[in-house]
Amino acid sequence: MTPDEIIRTFVEHHHRLGHSDAPESSLVPPPGDPVLFTTSGMHPLTPYLLGRPHPGGRRLVNVQRCLRTTDLDEVGDRTHLTVFQMLGSWSLGDYDIATSLRWGFDLLTDGYGIAPGKLHATVFGGDDHGLGPDETARATWTTLGVPVEALGADNWWSNGPTGPCGPDSEIFVWTGDDPPTGTPSGDDRWVEVWNHVQMRHHRHPDGRLTPLPLSSIDTGMGLERLEMVLRGDRSVFTGDGLRPWVGAVGDRWGLRGADLRVVADHLRSAVVVLGDGVRPGATGRGYVLRRLLRRALTVLWRDDPTRSLDELPLTGFDDTLRRFRQPVQPGPLRAVLRDEEHRFRGLLRRGRPLVERVRARGPLTEPDYHWLHDTHGLPRDLVDALLADAG
Ligand code: ALA
Repeated sequence: MTPDEIIRTFVEHHHRLGHSDAPESSLVPPPGDPVLFTTSGMHPLTPYLLGRPHPGGRRLVNVQRCLRTTDLDEVGDRTHLTVFQMLGSWSLGDYDIATSLRWGFDLLTDGYGIAPGKLHATVFGGDDHGLGPDETARATWTTLGVPVEALGADNWWSNGPTGPCGPDSEIFVWTGDDPPTGTPSGDDRWVEVWNHVQMRHHRHPDGRLTPLPLSSIDTGMGLERLEMVLRGDRSVFTGDGLRPWVGAVGDRWGLRGADLRVVADHLRSAVVVLGDGVRPGATGRGYVLRRLLRRALTVLWRDDPTRSLDELPLTGFDDTLRRFRQPVQPGPLRAVLRDEEHRFRGLLRRGRPLVERVRARGPLTEPDYHWLHDTHGLPRDLVDALLADAG
């Protein structure tokens, strides 16, 4: 199945079950939101999970572009992406977790053709604060014949330190060549594809947990991960949406392995962030974008400092903007990359001798970092990269 077919199958399955389309949001949350980027499908629906009626009703479905900076350090492996698409479904105080899991099982097996024997589930096993194990989810999986493992904090989901949260049940698919063995917590050939969260609690700034007015369900499934599993593959980087970037970066510059994955992920992610109107800057969202680009350039220039993002064909930009439903022209976005690259080159040219001079006096101190930043505009991560470079 292509990503477009996977999305269509997901949405049609939920339409048949009475869900209506929730509009997709930008990666940029509305003003006042404490989080820099939209991190999950539920994020824009937070007011509705807290009790406000949704104009679309109590059953919703959508595809939401998401960005997770928490995963940044994991990017470079085969299954994490900075920006990805999340297939999501919601019951706003309507059906319960048993129904959500049963319908989810039907979609994975009948809709996507995954053999039931390749599934494993995890459920919340309770914690030390008096929250009991999730017996309903466990019993549902057992009835469906899916093996289930009860875990602790790993099966509690929240979008941040405060807000709606609750126990979750995660669905894993076996990706090994041998017959399935072990459990998700002990064998990483079990890959998580879909998370069903019971949004029943509200975490307050003082840490208190109170019941939500409605008991809701929030589910999220990463499109690129699901595509990988359906292809029987072990890497999201061989998927349709990554291929143009892997091709451009690999063919043009001969990168391999983790370097190739980091550069392909960061450039594709940068295009989606740019597509939602963010521009590189010294703070907040702009700085996240700047870091993505600088990290990609640092890898690119390690072997050959003449490489330029201007060499990237616009076809990759076009493909990504189409897949992320962003009606934006690619040319001006590539021009932003070019400007940012020039800026970074200039900074490195000026920064290198300065950092070397300071380092000649001994290990860098806090005042050295402040001086390099405040007087010369060299951020700490860049200084560290120059130090690492100098050996
Ligand atoms: N909000 C849940 C997640 O992102 C579904 O995993």
